[in-house]
Amino acid sequence: MTNWTEIDQCARAWLKEAGDKIILSFQTALQIKEKTNANDLVTNIDQETERFFAKQIRQTFPGHRIMGEEGFGDDLKDLSGVVWIVDPIDGTTNFIHQKRNFMISIGIFENGESRLGYIYDVVLNEIYVAVAGEGAYWNDEQLPMLKETTVDKAVIGINLTWLTSNRLLDPAKTLIPLANDVRGTRSYGSAAMEFAYVSTGRLDAYITMRLSPWDFAGGKIILEEVGGKITNLKGEPLNLLEKTPVVAAKPRLHEKIIEEYLKKGIQ
Ligand code: IPD
Ligand code: CA
Ligand code: CA
Ligand code: CA
Repeated sequence: MTNWTEIDQCARAWLKEAGDKIILSFQTALQIKEKTNANDLVTNIDQETERFFAKQIRQTFPGHRIMGEEGFGDDLKDLSGVVWIVDPIDGTTNFIHQKRNFMISIGIFENGESRLGYIYDVVLNEIYVAVAGEGAYWNDEQLPMLKETTVDKAVIGINLTWLTSNRLLDPAKTLIPLANDVRGTRSYGSAAMEFAYVSTGRLDAYITMRLSPWDFAGGKIILEEVGGKITNLKGEPLNLLEKTPVVAAKPRLHEKIIEEYLKKGIQ
């Protein structure tokens, strides 16, 4: 039998330890490298943080498998067994430029089923946690189920670059009318933070064209626990092994965004 209480206690302790190390790193010079292009950055701290989680998980739970952004996990072709999906720093650009607005994000799954989700705001020392089927918490406070809102009263998270260019949607028929109809748009630069914000009702929806599993794994578990909906652009379930566009929102708003906006211009 999998001991989820033990896994949860370890995950929280490791998040705190990793967070403390990240805060300490503010006092030393960062080593910054470009990955696929000049806007796709990684630092020694992203790498050290993922290496730390991989080491702890392997030592404590040798049967568990790991998917991580920076390559210290396993090369997963399926989701059998217990899988930790880890983004050591979500919002690396914010981490480098702002030293805030970045998160550690972890989703733990068993045979592809959600079990435990974590988004840790290291700088604010705030943690969002979900135990699938038992609720979600912001620190010690239980998060209430989401209350619906209409498009005209909604504040949505969206990266403005998607309004000018993307291969999946015609912005003129989809995202631009949506951006015009909502009360406001926001762009935080950390997908995990946007999921935490949708989960707490600070945002009503978040739409993005390309996330990797580690960007949404923790957020999906937390958001679904408060009744939120998270799918691709067509309303289909997300694949935890693939890059995907993501629409996350309160359920009725989610349906409206897909039916009345996105479906009008999927290319
Ligand atoms: C990125 C952030 C960003 C999102 C990108 C992600 P990273 O993650 O979540 O908000 O727009 O698609 O890649 O690289 O900082 O972990
Ligand atoms: Ca990255
Ligand atoms: Ca990320
Ligand atoms: Ca990252």
